[in-house]
Amino acid sequence: MKGIVLAGGSGTRLSPLTIAVSKQLLPVYDKPMIYYPISVLMLAGIREILIITTPEDSHLFKRLLGDGSVLGCSFSYEVQEQPNGLAEAFIIGESFIGKDKVALVLGDNIFYGNGLSKLLQSKVTVDGGAIFAYPVRDPERFGVVAFDKDMNVTSIEEKPESPQSNYAVPGIYFYDNDVVAIAKEIKPSHRGELEITAINQEYLLRKKLTVGVMSRGMSWFDTGTVDALDDATEFIRVLQRNQSTMIACLEEIAYKMNWISYEALKASASRYGKGAYAQYINTL
Ligand code: DAU
Repeated sequence: MKGIVLAGGSGTRLSPLTIAVSKQLLPVYDKPMIYYPISVLMLAGIREILIITTPEDSHLFKRLLGDGSVLGCSFSYEVQEQPNGLAEAFIIGESFIGKDKVALVLGDNIFYGNGLSKLLQSKVTVDGGAIFAYPVRDPERFGVVAFDKDMNVTSIEEKPESPQSNYAVPGIYFYDNDVVAIAKEIKPSHRGELEITAINQEYLLRKKLTVGVMSRGMSWFDTGTVDALDDATEFIRVLQRNQSTMIACLEEIAYKMNWISYEALKASASRYGKGAYAQYINTL
């Protein structure tokens, strides 16, 4: 399975923070936001990753992340000219995806929790589509999935005015190769975007969509608003300080996945100067 991180968009809800800098490069506590979604793909065991950015910010992401080889991964880059919607990722990524299955993670989504790696790894052989449901206070801000009493999916809607449930669909999606053809077929929504929800609706229609409810032990943040960004920062800060471990240290994940050697891990710390991130790598 290949992976795509979608890190474009206009970020207008975070303005003025995002006038000069892409949202996904903003700090979430001690590292750039995009480290978190990349860590999610890596924890799923995905090493071939396409990063989609705005044309203006592409060079900044390349400077930050390079070709991924220091992590034992392969990073490639494409641009999205306009924020035409999440589903466009599969059209832009068509030649990258080739004949493989693909996972999409949104560049502003953060996941953390017990059993996350196992959960993600269980989806890489998906036949059809696999998404998740996560209970939230404000479902009208998200894609919303509703279930009947036997937990069969009854509807999936994008930002409904009257949500049928309080289950939001978080920004990590696993699909088989049909997703490319489906993305080319769907029509823009009333807000002019190729919606990921339209793709999920199509898989639902084909009876090929599985929806797993994320347990209470899992934490998910969409950092699309200033308050949500601040909450995520606070969460990472408290957890890292209490547990003396780092969330989304990419070098640690690469080492534990056996993608880089002990020597390569040690060498990687030098890139980060004398800061806490480098010190953490040195303690591993
Ligand atoms: O966070 C989960 C939610 O993400 C889902 O529940 C929704 O179904 C899904 O539509 C999406 O909703 P958002 O309103 O949060 O999407 P947003 O426009 O904020 O875009 C999410 C990320 O994708 C953000 O990092 C910007 C990037 N993006 C967005 C668009 C529309 C792009 O790179 N290109 C785009 O065209």
